[in-house]
Amino acid sequence: MHFTDTLPTPLAEALAHSEQLKTLICEKIQAQGGQLSFHDFMQTALYEPKFGYYVAGLRKIGAEGDFVTAPEISSLFSYCIANQCAQVLAELPNSSILELGAGSGRMAADILLRLEQLDCLPETYFILDLSPDLQVRQRETLEFLAPHLLTKVKWLVNLPAHPFQGVILGNEVLDAMPVELFTVKDTGIASLYVSLDKNDLVFTEQASQHADAIQAFLPPDLVLPYTSEFNPSLKPWIHSLADCLAAGLLLLIDYGYERADYYHPERRQGTLLCHYQHRVHDNPLIYPGLQDLTASVDFTATAEAGVEAGLELAGYTTQAVFLASSGLEDLFIEALNGAPEARYQLAQQVRSLSLPSEMGERFKVIALTKRFTTPLLGFRLSDRQHRL
Ligand SMILES: C[S@@+](CC[C@H](N)C(=O)[O-])C[C@H]1O[C@@H](n2cnc3c(N)ncnc32)[C@H](O)[C@@H]1O
Repeated sequence: MHFTDTLPTPLAEALAHSEQLKTLICEKIQAQGGQLSFHDFMQTALYEPKFGYYVAGLRKIGAEGDFVTAPEISSLFSYCIANQCAQVLAELPNSSILELGAGSGRMAADILLRLEQLDCLPETYFILDLSPDLQVRQRETLEFLAPHLLTKVKWLVNLPAHPFQGVILGNEVLDAMPVELFTVKDTGIASLYVSLDKNDLVFTEQASQHADAIQAFLPPDLVLPYTSEFNPSLKPWIHSLADCLAAGLLLLIDYGYERADYYHPERRQGTLLCHYQHRVHDNPLIYPGLQDLTASVDFTATAEAGVEAGLELAGYTTQAVFLASSGLEDLFIEALNGAPEARYQLAQQVRSLSLPSEMGERFKVIALTKRFTTPLLGFRLSDRQHRL
């Protein structure tokens, strides 16, 4: 992944698609009196039916897409998650798994295969994704990798109507949610909006309605101007998940920080990033619908929302520690014994998942539980809850 100023020019067909979405965004800007909140712009760019980045039929995840996620790097990642799930499923009778934002379906297939090996299959493996295009791909992946387990999988368009026991999982879902952008200046806190200047999408500012809430989580010693973001959907989303869980575990894995690091005085440009064909840049207003927009996760806010929703904070650590605690070394040896010729590849996968300079430290894992008090496998080597 490169941070860059220059991007490959999209093909004519892709550009035409993006122009259609831009026309829709311009209509929304006009309907809102000349400016659209950044949150609504990001929601449209990512999830507008037919045209949004996650909804249209572009290949997003993997080598031919725009970014790669841990389940795509190595099955060992999902096997570790499966080991953690097995601990919960074994204790709770008739329990199921709900995976949110299941991407290509790779993690679902690998988790089911590992749970089958452990003789600990869930009653049902629910998948809820906002992207109809990805749902098709998930079914294809499962048909290819685990056809005999397909009957276990049920796709949902909404959260289950009745609370269930088991595990709710989300890998890199929170970072794909729309955020509000704000900037702090001598004159106060302003929210960023998207407006039109001739035919170009541009940023404008307006005094923020959320100024008091934002002020409450910012440190006092900021050098101005200071730009960052927050996710207004986080709290209601966690509450809806908590309502869904009768007993068990909510496990979220993502890149992000504890609040003191997230709103660190030196992080003056925030965390919003754009991914286009394995290049990273910082202009969210270009190529709407063709590029991924993503912001890091405030794990303190996630923990607070969970506790407020009646969940218990049961663990918080780095991806490297979580994987090591969940049996990565044994799984690596097992994989090596099965395919000694893949030694280099497997070692490279473990490095990508675990090294601090790769995903090991930047990605964190948070566990929130309900009516489940057994200490969780994935946090047995180290738990950083005190940092939140
Ligand atoms: C960055 S991708 C990650 C995909 C996959 N989990 C992986 O690790 O490869 C984000 C996914 O989250 C989904 N998503 C975003 N918000 C969601 C929500 N509120 N509920 C369910 N899925 C959501 C998107 O449609 C997309 O599939």
